[in-house]
Amino acid sequence: MDDRNGWDQDTTRSTGTTHSPPQSFVEQANVSDPGIYEAFEENRPACWERAADLLSWDDEYETVLEDEDPPFYRWFPDGRLNAAYNCLDRHLEAGRKNHAAIRWEGKQGERRTYTYRDLYVEVNEFAAALRELGVEEDDVVTVYLPMIPELPIAMLACARIGAPHSVVFAGLSADALATRMEAADSEYLVTCDGYYRRGDAFNQKSKADNARIGLEQNVQTVVVDRLGDDLPHVLGEDEWDYHELRDEFASETVEPVSREAEDMLFLMYTSGTTGEPKGVVHATGGYLAHVAWTSHAVLDVKPADTYWCAADIGWITGHSYIVYGPLTLGTTTVMYEGTPDYPDRDRLWEIVDRNAVDIFYTAPTAIRAFMKWGSEYPDQHDLSSLRLLGTVGEPISPRPWNWYRDTVGGGDCPVVDTWWQTETGAVAISTLPGIDDMKPGSAGPALPGIDVQIVDQAGDEVAPGEAGYLTITRPWPGMARTLYDTDEQFVAEYWRRFSDPDTGEWRYFSGDTARIDEDGYITVLGRVDDVITVSGHRLGTMEIESAIADVDGIAEAAVVGRSNETGDTEVYAYVSTERNRDANAAVRRAIFENIESAIGSIARPEAVVFTPELPKTRSGKIMRRLLEDVANGEELGDTSALRNPEIVGEIQAEIEADGGGRRS
Ligand code: WT7
Repeated sequence: MDDRNGWDQDTTRSTGTTHSPPQSFVEQANVSDPGIYEAFEENRPACWERAADLLSWDDEYETVLEDEDPPFYRWFPDGRLNAAYNCLDRHLEAGRKNHAAIRWEGKQGERRTYTYRDLYVEVNEFAAALRELGVEEDDVVTVYLPMIPELPIAMLACARIGAPHSVVFAGLSADALATRMEAADSEYLVTCDGYYRRGDAFNQKSKADNARIGLEQNVQTVVVDRLGDDLPHVLGEDEWDYHELRDEFASETVEPVSREAEDMLFLMYTSGTTGEPKGVVHATGGYLAHVAWTSHAVLDVKPADTYWCAADIGWITGHSYIVYGPLTLGTTTVMYEGTPDYPDRDRLWEIVDRNAVDIFYTAPTAIRAFMKWGSEYPDQHDLSSLRLLGTVGEPISPRPWNWYRDTVGGGDCPVVDTWWQTETGAVAISTLPGIDDMKPGSAGPALPGIDVQIVDQAGDEVAPGEAGYLTITRPWPGMARTLYDTDEQFVAEYWRRFSDPDTGEWRYFSGDTARIDEDGYITVLGRVDDVITVSGHRLGTMEIESAIADVDGIAEAAVVGRSNETGDTEVYAYVSTERNRDANAAVRRAIFENIESAIGSIARPEAVVFTPELPKTRSGKIMRRLLEDVANGEELGDTSALRNPEIVGEIQAEIEADGGGRRS
């Protein structure tokens, strides 16, 4: 593995001053007893009952963890439960039917509030409709919807009937959707006619139609009419209108299917080192226990709160912390369809103000943008309702961290920097806001019951302050159970590198590098694999490279991440054309088109630099690390080991002549 983001990169980042949690916060915190770390440590794996106790079980589990066949761990294996029951029915039974479950803020300024009762009714109706369409327990239902309420409703309807959902981010392309449906053998699709992008109607259904053309399986499709007359559409064979189905099944209820804790709740495709996306499998009981527990202990969610995670449900953050975590705890979760700067740059703060949001959770890329726009936007609104702030998705450096705390949080909200992944299911590293001091720039200690070790190549723990690989040495409830249909790849991707099956020592490898300090605080440095994070989306460089290489006349491509002035990562592509082929504007256009149709516009490169050759080692390996340094204007190390060292100067000259190979 080529460590592109690890060792010699910015290991000097200072964590600055330490902040203690404000006393007023501690006094009301869900978890404030520092003894919790020891209590978990001394009582494994039973400590996790504390998480499972936040759920309602149909059959209580007797066993907490079954670890006979690592790394295929089974949590609460003899327990039974239903996730939709936990998110809905039990809150009705507790007399909270009129409590707001979802407050939806649409792109055009529309607003819709769903009480727990409203949500229960609609989820039941749609569950009944799905059944009628033929969906059975364990059938994978693909959901390809933007941030409209029908998205969580479809997820919960699936959960209710025991059908795993596979949500595909609405911005992904037809090809990306087709690949995922094919891999999961999914015969059901829930999508919509389209959605608004900066005020314009954008056609989603045509993408779904194109995806289905190439599929072997027959697909039943439900279409939500989001745009009405703004984008008329006709339904073809095997296509059903969502609202008509609801009318047909009005007021019907469906018994929640009692699932084994280890039954699959959902599949989430994510980018990895290979060109193919990986289908990460999450189990019902352990996942739900872990997201509920971390919503409670890390995000301090209480039923009376209005809580807002400003992410997209099309990715794991939204699954865990817009839908399952907050709804399991019976709180009010805000769901926002739009972007932070439309109609104006104060949009998010206006929503916080109007809804009196208590807890706000977003990504560093957004925080850096807010900081760049300036404090005048948050200053226009009353943000005093905020009690806790969170960040997730990539490392956050002390300056934006402090800006977030001071300008958005008014200086008296704790900030939790939560590290986790699609594969961990829920937060694994973070301070507990009612207990721990915060060190800006460092995510914090591993959560109680989670054993993180930072190790060297040989798997030995590194000394405090030294960079190493971020690994987890013991299982945890929210962990991915496998990769869909390929247990072998699951072992190969995450376990083989640092495990020793002979001694029975299994160790999960996250793909990240990190440092740990004397107090056990972990600073995440970045990924070691060929994955870059762009605006919170995890993209595989190989996927983008193969989309480029598909263009007629292209010989080879190398894609790296470039950090721009704001600190955001951009896609930066180096492309060599075949002999006698010109690198002209048409080729550049074809590259953009191919990437958009293979993956989606989020993967569109900020720059394409044409070069006669890519720099290679003598064994023919492309030196991506070097290209990354070139893109970032870093000083270059010794290039003498290259087969074609002269090409590096040519590339630099090309970039200079071309103004950095920018899009224009
Ligand atoms: C990768 C996982 C988990 C939800 C969002 C992304 C990076 C995540 C942090 C953080 C530094 C972070 C890691 C990780 N990451 N949170 N607080 N500090 N890096 O989920 O798409 O599965 O990406 O995001 O590199 O491996 P994902």
